[in-house]
Amino acid sequence: MSKPQRHVFVCTQNRPPQHPRGSCAGGKGSTALLQALWAEQQKRNAYDTVAITYSGCLGPCDHGANVLVYPEAVLYRGVTAADAEEIFASHLERGEPVARLVAPETVW
Ligand code: FES
Repeated sequence: MSKPQRHVFVCTQNRPPQHPRGSCAGGKGSTALLQALWAEQQKRNAYDTVAITYSGCLGPCDHGANVLVYPEAVLYRGVTAADAEEIFASHLERGEPVARLVAPETVW
């Protein structure tokens, strides 16, 4: 395995439907998003440059589905499967974060 240029963490935390915090996989589509990112990785044969890992809760559950990208420590919020191609092409390949999805600093 090569050391990836970027590592993507996709929150796939799941909680019961009535839970007050909600969850990224519980109605916010993060499982489909994870599958879409993996599909983009396969399409682009980006296994040596990008690592994609599912994770537990990243913190700002109200804003999910949440995605964290390192080494830039860019937190995306409200991400859906429809955003996977843009994130891959812009950020993961060209190093240009998708501004419209970046969480504000106040979320941290
Ligand atoms: S459940 Fe995804 S950030 Fe908390």
